[in-house]
Amino acid sequence: MQKKDVKKNLLNHSEAKVKLLGEYIKKYLSVICNDGYTQIIRIFDLFCGEGLYDNMGEGSPIVLLNAINEVAKESQKNSRAIPKIVCYFNDKSKVKIEKLKSVITNSQYNISNCEISYKTFDYLEIVDSLVSQIDSLKNEKVFIFIDPYGYKGIKASQINRLMTSRKSEVLLWLPTQHMYRFSENGTPEALYDFLEEFEIHESEANKNVWKFIKRLNSGFQRSIGNNFYVDYFSIKKDENTVFCLYFFTSHIRGFEKMMETKWEIDTEFGKGWEYTGNRLSLFHDHKTNELEIKLKEYIKSGIRYNGDVYRFTLLNKYLPKHAKQILEDWQKNNIIEVISSTGDKIAKKWFYIKYYKKGSLDNKKVYFRLK
Ligand SMILES: C[S@@+](CC[C@H](N)C(=O)[O-])C[C@H]1O[C@@H](n2cnc3c(N)ncnc32)[C@H](O)[C@@H]1O
Repeated sequence: MQKKDVKKNLLNHSEAKVKLLGEYIKKYLSVICNDGYTQIIRIFDLFCGEGLYDNMGEGSPIVLLNAINEVAKESQKNSRAIPKIVCYFNDKSKVKIEKLKSVITNSQYNISNCEISYKTFDYLEIVDSLVSQIDSLKNEKVFIFIDPYGYKGIKASQINRLMTSRKSEVLLWLPTQHMYRFSENGTPEALYDFLEEFEIHESEANKNVWKFIKRLNSGFQRSIGNNFYVDYFSIKKDENTVFCLYFFTSHIRGFEKMMETKWEIDTEFGKGWEYTGNRLSLFHDHKTNELEIKLKEYIKSGIRYNGDVYRFTLLNKYLPKHAKQILEDWQKNNIIEVISSTGDKIAKKWFYIKYYKKGSLDNKKVYFRLK
């Protein structure tokens, strides 16, 4: 059977990539649209492609438009106005941008909920101007999707600069498989840049793709600092090929929305997409075991308020509902006390493991003691 051209057809693993993008952006928009502060949301798809593939698969710009329309419809239903949304669709190829324009104007896509600006810049030209543009924004939020074919020209330092003003979030696709398996043909120049930035030694890089993925994650985290959240979503295209989406945000709420998206796609581990269809393993009932062990240690080792447990849970790549499930179980087995900080009576099954604004007293509503 002839192989389908990955550049002309949206294949399953690329569909998984844009699915994560679409599901995340819906959650992101729902939060930002209702934060009572943001007046303009700017979405930059820097390697946007032509929108519609030969097999009618929808690429990132169309996935973004669909997500915007869904959120707008939901807001209209609830009689809520949404902030202005501006999409910047950029691709170096003028031909692709022309195709995208005609796909969007000649088809049924609703473009009444956002403004669209088409650009044909080289990514490298755009990054610098984007950094200064973001720095000068007020009451605005930015989402940037970076989806190159390879990794040439992509640097951790660029992501850091795009994130510095704390107004943006970045989703970056990296062909991790091609990056770690370089040694057979020699190390390409662009990869040297990457390894150098992350202080990864060549001999360390080519052992195992999963280790390499984690190594890049900690490299990104170290490079951007602990005031930012970094995570990844793996996409296993076949038995031997794993790609990755890296996610960067300055806000724990954005991080929570990404965790929710990951757990929706991978209901067992919340880690990635698999070509086999993410079938449940024999152990799927035990998915929170790891968190249970960690949470026990964490609560034992100091005074832990509800806000601390919320953060701890997310940083360990689990959801608040997982922590609640564990606490409920401990409460049922009478091994935990939930103590009010103000002396109020706390009803059973109330743990307050959710997002409260930074500095809000609600983050310290209750604390936990293991018996
Ligand atoms: C992986 S494809 C993007 C796919 C698209 N995001 C989607 O979901 O369908 C990469 C795109 O980047 C464009 N491209 C390649 N080099 C570029 C550069 N230096 N700057 C901007 N775009 C570039 C290519 O024309 C191609 O359309």
